[in-house]
Amino acid sequence: MAFFKYKEILFIPLFHSVETLSYVENEFQLLDDDTVVVSYPRSGTHWMAEILSLIQSHGDPSWVQKVPLWERAPWIEIDVHLQIALKNPSPRILNTHLPFQLFPKSFLHSKAKIVCTLRNPRDVMVSAYYFRKGYKDCNDLETVEEFMESFLSGEVGYGSWFDHVKGWVEMKERANIFFITYEELQQDLRGSVQKICHFLGKELNSQQIESVVENASFHKMKDNKMSNFSLIPESIFDHTKAKFMRKGISGDWKNHLTVAQSERFDDAYQENMHGVNMTFPWE
Ligand code: A3P
Repeated sequence: MAFFKYKEILFIPLFHSVETLSYVENEFQLLDDDTVVVSYPRSGTHWMAEILSLIQSHGDPSWVQKVPLWERAPWIEIDVHLQIALKNPSPRILNTHLPFQLFPKSFLHSKAKIVCTLRNPRDVMVSAYYFRKGYKDCNDLETVEEFMESFLSGEVGYGSWFDHVKGWVEMKERANIFFITYEELQQDLRGSVQKICHFLGKELNSQQIESVVENASFHKMKDNKMSNFSLIPESIFDHTKAKFMRKGISGDWKNHLTVAQSERFDDAYQENMHGVNMTFPWE
């Protein structure tokens, strides 16, 4: 795929520009009542944005059924989405895949709430391997092993998963950042929604929580054209080659990596995550 580098990180020219990345990093103002989904691509970003949209509407699904996800929760670093983010009324839900060092500097004196959503990097890698096939200029012939090497060395869009996670984990003592994993969402979506509501200071009754859980389920999102990526034009994404809502499970990497590849991944993981002060469900 075609990329350009901004401060050592790869970005896609179709969506990003140096001007926007620099503006977002240096000038974009986070507001105290913003909620930001921070995640590395393919970690459950859309899932979390859907959950936050449903929490914001107290479980009423009409907003998620009528308005495209990227209008409800625009990605601040994507050129066209930034314009939406700047116009959306407060309280805003924002999305970003940016590593901490490129995140708006205004965060350091802001009370904006950050929901950092993490996922087993093996599943992230497999999910990304299939998803990228939908992009027109993707090298479809690349093997899982070749893509894995690019992923492990950070030579992929948005850079290294390890650096992304390490950069955000360093912020974990701040009161306005909350960490949750894709695996926790899968294991106990209701409990996770309750924890997120608690972090956001939102009080939903049990019926409203139930509606958030039901409407953020994989099958509901898969059928909701406002959330399932199907509105992305064919000129950008070939929907016959890749599905955004692919499997929605944890542990699919076991169906794609050989024992040797999995060992290679484990070694890189140990080497890169040594000393990181957080435990994850996949460890
Ligand atoms: P798979 O490719 O493993 O199926 P992101 O939004 O960060 O790009 O992440 C996309 C991944 O999240 C895809 O993973 C997608 O299927 C999964 N996903 C999206 N919505 C989901 C949901 N409601 N429940 C479970 N997984 C979901």
